Amino acid sequence: MSGETMSIFSPRLAARFDALVKKYPVKRSALVPMLLYAQDEVGYLSDAVIAEVAERIGITELDVRNVATYYSMLRFKPAGRYNIQVCTNISCMLRGAYPLLERFQEELGIGHKGVTSDGVFSLEEVECIGACCWAPAIQVNYDFHDDLTPDHVPGILKTYRSKAEGAEGTAAHA
Ligand code: FES
Repeated sequence: MSGETMSIFSPRLAARFDALVKKYPVKRSALVPMLLYAQDEVGYLSDAVIAEVAERIGITELDVRNVATYYSMLRFKPAGRYNIQVCTNISCMLRGAYPLLERFQEELGIGHKGVTSDGVFSLEEVECIGACCWAPAIQVNYDFHDDLTPDHVPGILKTYRSKAEGAEGTAAHA
């Protein structure tokens, strides 16, 4: 994509992508990192994100979708402001991941891939997040919480709800 072409991404991210595609001998190697950065900025892989990434890499939109569907951390619909990922892989399962997941479902009133009506939380059951030594573990956006029991759930939700309210308050007074 040339410098004059309109990008749906911020100038900073567009510049990052320009640099990223030059970094790899095969442009396509930049695909997954680009999708992750794009999702961080836009919130999910919208049709416009997929179209621009495809154009930047020189592959079809279908190629992008085929790769993106393989990665559970990539989303085609908006997630909540705080996306809660509960690992139910073997170490976490043996140490109570399912009762933990059920407690999140009860407290939030949503299931796997659901989003709360206020848009604050989304919930996902995921594979190993690399914190097996401290199982059961969850990830909220980029924060890890480990060695959890269902009783930790209300406190975790309260913390993020307060953050969301704080962010809204700041925006209202900006
Ligand atoms: S099995 Fe849950 S973090 Fe690895």
